[in-house]
Order: sequence, then C-alpha cells, then structure tokens
Amino acid sequence: MGRLDDRVIIVTGGAHGIGRAYCLGLAKEGAKVVVADLDGPGAEAVVRTLGESGSDALAVVGDVSVPDDTEAMAKAAMDRFGRIDGLINNAAVFQIPAVSRVPFEQIPVEEWDNLMAVNLRGVFLCCRAVVPNMKALGSGKIVNISSGTVFHGSTQFAHYVTSKAGVIGFTRAVARELGEHNINVNAIAPGLTLSLDEISEDQLEASRIRMQARAIKRAQVPEDLVGTAVFLCSSDSDFMTGQTLVVDGGAQMH
Ligand SMILES: NC(=O)c1ccc[n+]([C@@H]2O[C@H](COP(=O)([O-])OP(=O)(O)OC[C@H]3O[C@@H](n4cnc5c(N)ncnc54)[C@H](O)[C@@H]3O)[C@@H](O)[C@H]2O)c1
Repeated sequence: MGRLDDRVIIVTGGAHGIGRAYCLGLAKEGAKVVVADLDGPGAEAVVRTLGESGSDALAVVGDVSVPDDTEAMAKAAMDRFGRIDGLINNAAVFQIPAVSRVPFEQIPVEEWDNLMAVNLRGVFLCCRAVVPNMKALGSGKIVNISSGTVFHGSTQFAHYVTSKAGVIGFTRAVARELGEHNINVNAIAPGLTLSLDEISEDQLEASRIRMQARAIKRAQVPEDLVGTAVFLCSSDSDFMTGQTLVVDGGAQMH
C-alpha cells in the first residue's frame, strides 16, 4: 500500500529536474501522475520511465502561462483518469529557460513580464483549471513551489524572488478560500538544489558556498524535496493549509 494509492496528481514542469523527481516519488507511493511540461518529449520520457516500473502516467504538453493550455491540461487528466486529486505547481522560469542574473535595474521589462506570467500567473491558471474538479470531488491537494530566495532576499534576480514571494501570498489567500471545500493549499520553499542533468562548475561552486550556511552541510538534490511533496499530497497533511515549508537543510530557520 502506498500513501497516494490511486490519487491522480498533476506535476507541472515535470519533465526535468525537481519536477521529474516529484513525478517518480509520487508514483512510487501509488499515484497516477500527469506529467505536464512545455517539453513534450521530456514529459513522454518521464512517462516511459514510470511505465517501466508499472505506474500509469500521462504526458501533457502545454505552457502554464496560457489559459487554454491549462484548461486542456485539466481536461486531459479528467478524460484519462476521471479525477484530479492533486496539483504540484512546479513549472517556472528558473533554469530551463534560464533566468537572467543581473542587478534589478538591468532586468529587461519583457523578461520581468514573462517570468511573472509563468511563475505567478501560471500558478493561478493551473489552480483555476483544476479546482472545479476538486470541488466536485470534495477534496484536493495543491502544492505551490516557492523558493528559499524569498527569505534570504537573494540578489541578482529580483524578478524571480518577487515571483516566488507572490506564490506564498497566493497560497495563503487561496487556502482560505478553498478550506471549506476540503482543498489544502500549501507551499514548499526549496533551497539551492542541484537539479540540472549536467551541472556546471559555477553551479557546483554556488552549491559549495550555500552548503556552509546550512545546518546540514551537504549539497541539496531533487530527492531531498520529494518527501515533503508526498506528505503535502497525502492524508497526513489533511489539517494543514496555507503553510510554506522550507526544505533547505536548515539554511533558513523561522
Ligand atoms: N533548483 C533550485 O535550486 C530551486 C530552488 C528553489 C526553488 N526552485 C523551484 O523549484 C521548481 C523546479 O526547479 P528546477 O530547478 O527543477 O527547475 P528547472 O528550470 O530545471 O525545470 C523547470 C521545468 O519547468 C518546465 N517549464 C518551464 N516553463 C514552463 C512553462 N511555461 N510551462 C510548462 N512547463 C514549463 C521546464 O521545461 C522544466 O521541465 C521551480 O519552480 C523552481 O523555481 C528551484
């Protein structure tokens, strides 16, 4: 018996990095995973991997910042599985595609707008697309991915930090609105995580520096976030909503 047996959970940005680790971890606990991503072949590859270990999964191609795509994502999940129990809003402009790391005055306005459209409007749109089905079901689990950079006030990418702060505000407001429908809305704030398939020397160096600020002094990897995501999608978190769990090896404590 898994903790998520037969729950249908959508993971946006599930084709790569931490999103991929969420897909594998949720499936291991019995979930049927909908791998939603801009990168169709990447999503299909994750579904193939899940199929090899006996899990039922579906790949959906789409852009979380486009309303029609998010509606199509929810419809595809309903058509295939007949229910939506969970949504992990993980897709973001962060590494794929890469965010500019510059002083805030140098952030191009178009990049600011695009990043807000994906990282913030995308969370709103995906929630809006699945919530009618969750209300009809009488339950649901929404997990929004924020970032430890919000608490740290990290420099050189103010648009990213701002978008991830918005995710926390949205999580709290929507948690209050959806509580009466038995829908939990929580957030995870990961620390700096080595999530790319090929990690550059610069990233390794950033990880080594961040390690020193942690209580647990080692590099953070995607699998470090999976247990928290499973918990927030499971019945174990039924009386918890509007919260942000920081998973960063104890770099921030609050
Ligand atoms: N890696 C870290 O250090 C770290 C730290 C804190 C928070 N986070 C957050 O965790 C999440 C995952 O991080 P990651 O490092 O695996 O990210 P990543 O950039 O490696 O992967 C993002 C995934 O989202 C997909 N994607 C991007 N834009 C999309 C769109 N518009 N529509 C649909 N899919 C889209 C990409 O194709 C990719 O599969 C992100 O929300 C990120 O902001 C990451």
